[in-house]
Parts: sequence; C-alpha cells; structure tokens
Amino acid sequence: MSTPTLSRTLLSGSPEETHRLGLRLGQLLQPGDFVGLVGDLGAGKTHLVRGVAEGAGVSRSEVASPTFAIVYPYRGRLPLYHADLYRLADYDELYATGFLDLVGGDGAVLVEWLDRIPEAAPREFLRITLRDAGEESRELVAEAWGARPAELLEAWLPANR
Ligand SMILES: Nc1ncnc2c1ncn2[C@@H]1O[C@H](COP(=O)(O)OP(=O)(O)OP(=O)(O)O)[C@@H](O)[C@H]1O
Ligand SMILES: [Mg+2]
Repeated sequence: MSTPTLSRTLLSGSPEETHRLGLRLGQLLQPGDFVGLVGDLGAGKTHLVRGVAEGAGVSRSEVASPTFAIVYPYRGRLPLYHADLYRLADYDELYATGFLDLVGGDGAVLVEWLDRIPEAAPREFLRITLRDAGEESRELVAEAWGARPAELLEAWLPANR
C-alpha cells in the first residue's frame, strides 16, 4: 500500500467507547464514502459498525451480523451498505455478488475483513485496523487515502482533542 494521506492512532478502553467512536464516524458519513475494517476475530469490528450505523441514523433492530448474506443494506440518514468478506474466496466471487456496484454510489459502504480482498476498496478510502491491546483495550489505527477520506478522518478524530 502507498503511504496514507493522513493517519491517526488511538486507544479505546471499552466496547462502549468503541461504539461511541463509531457513532461519531457514522454522523459524518456521506454518500460515496468507503470504510474498510481490518482486525482479527473479536477485535471489535462489529462493535464499531453498530456504532457507525446508529450514528448514520439506522435503527438498532436493522443491524445484523452479516452471516448469511455478503452485503446488508441499511436505511438511515443515507443508505449504508455493510459487507463482510470473511467467507469470500477472491475478487471474482465478490464481483458476482454485485457488491462492487454499490461502491461510490448513493450510500456509504462499510466492509469488515477488507484485508481478505483488498482490491475491493476504491482508490480513495478510509481503513480502520483494530488490535487487541489487552483486556478491554483496543488500538485503532485509522488511515485515509485521498482528499475526502482524509477530510472525514480529520473531522472524526481531530488532531487537537
Ligand atoms: N475496547 C473494545 N472495543 C470493542 N470490543 C471490545 C473492547 N474490549 C473488549 N471488547 C470485546 O471484544 C469483542 C469484539 O467483538 P466484535 O464482534 O465486535 O469483533 P469482530 O472484530 O467483529 O469479530 P469477528 O471477526 O469475529 O466478527 C466483544 O466481545 C467485545 O465485548
Ligand atoms: Mg464481526
């Protein structure tokens, strides 16, 4: 990967804090935004996604864990597409799902396990990597490639907090 336009690192001290971080990100999402989530099993990707969905105005009952489908569409302040690439073999299989037609479209896109098929990401996107940092602690590394993703990241996690 090339060097990101902007990156930020922070620690979340609890699942609730991760949820709140997601909520703030969800409030900032615009159509066309693409957010990729990377991290091991139990790293906190889905906790973050649930926060994002709430911040984007999606009702809690709509948010599933994408177990049976590859892409779940949610209706919020804007359409939100939640995908999980965990069980996909490769780009061709992803292509066949129609997911790629949603990228850069009318809604924002959130993708868990982006590292399984990195080519799923558009040229400009935000990537959030979560790492277990012990007990309830998780390190979040957010990296933006491109002007809009960098603007989104700066609004989400301002340098001077
Ligand atoms: N700071 C934290 N942020 C998020 N989750 C945390 C944190 N501390 C502990 N946890 C726990 O870690 C787990 C995270 O689960 P979650 O389903 O969000 O992970 P995931 O990355 O989506 O995993 P999977 O790839 O298996 O779906 C939960 O059990 C949650 O309670
Ligand atoms: Mg998950």
